[in-house]
Amino acid sequence: MERTTSASNSDSSTPGTARRTVLITGASRGIGADTARTLAARGDHVVVNYREKRKRAEVVAAQIIAAGGSASVAGADITDPDSARALVDSVVSDFGGLDVLVLNASGGLERDAAPDYAMLLNRDAQTRLALLALPHFAPGGRIVFVTSHQAHFSPTREVPAGYAPIAASKRAGEDALRALIPEFDRHGIGFVVVSGDMIDGTIIVRLLERRDPDAVSARRDHGDLPTVEEFAAAVADATTVRATPGHTLYVGGTDFLTTSTPHQLIRSARL
Ligand SMILES: NC(=O)c1ccc[n+]([C@@H]2O[C@H](COP(=O)([O-])OP(=O)(O)OC[C@H]3O[C@@H](n4cnc5c(N)ncnc54)[C@H](OP(=O)(O)O)[C@@H]3O)[C@@H](O)[C@H]2O)c1
Repeated sequence: MERTTSASNSDSSTPGTARRTVLITGASRGIGADTARTLAARGDHVVVNYREKRKRAEVVAAQIIAAGGSASVAGADITDPDSARALVDSVVSDFGGLDVLVLNASGGLERDAAPDYAMLLNRDAQTRLALLALPHFAPGGRIVFVTSHQAHFSPTREVPAGYAPIAASKRAGEDALRALIPEFDRHGIGFVVVSGDMIDGTIIVRLLERRDPDAVSARRDHGDLPTVEEFAAAVADATTVRATPGHTLYVGGTDFLTTSTPHQLIRSARL
């Protein structure tokens, strides 16, 4: 695991005090990067995790710092158990613990991905990281799991063909995390899920548009897709919103909600 600690000032956080420490997986680009910017603007110290794009992560942290925020970067492939452990250890050693873990990193659509890679990343790595972090949370800490409507609703809704393995693995990850809620409760840690429709302009949607253009245009038929900024704001909100364990925040795709079972109709946010 590589890391660079580049917090903007010496006012580094102690968990439980004013400045929270928030570890965001996969924050070198896309929704994770924007969530990092949003939370830093709200006063948190953000640890920008990346897998291999160190320069990109450093640019995200530098932008946050230039804007007056506090950020550091920490490289780790969260599918690698040693790397995941080293990531948590580095946060504990640098900041004394953490307040929030945002499980944002996701993948499996990569051309060279092994057949089991989606499950390794979207299910196994998520639960492992949550359990590794669990003893190190400040009181009142929180885990936020980021997912898509295509995954969250996959047991009851059709999934775009090219996205099926990702949807299955992300839903399996969500289910595995939900099964840990009693364990999270024992540690006093909250757990919130944020589910979004396809998000405009992201690499995943551009990839899907190439592989299965009809699937993306079908979503556009239901209205404008949420933007990265809108979705990231909802993920940031999920770190503070008063919520019962396992609460789900929904962003966009109201048609998903109207055809789902009542217990899923917790909130529809088109921010
Ligand atoms: N895009 C959408 O339309 C959409 C819709 C709803 C929900 N979501 C959810 O939002 C989240 C972010 O999506 P996104 O589109 O912003 O993703 P993205 O652009 O594909 O970015 C993925 C991020 O995860 C990192 N990553 C990948 N594999 C990793 C690993 N093994 N260990 C550590 N980091 C890893 C990448 O780091 P490197 O750059 O270093 O490889 C990158 O920072 C996902 O959970 C996704 O399911 C997305």
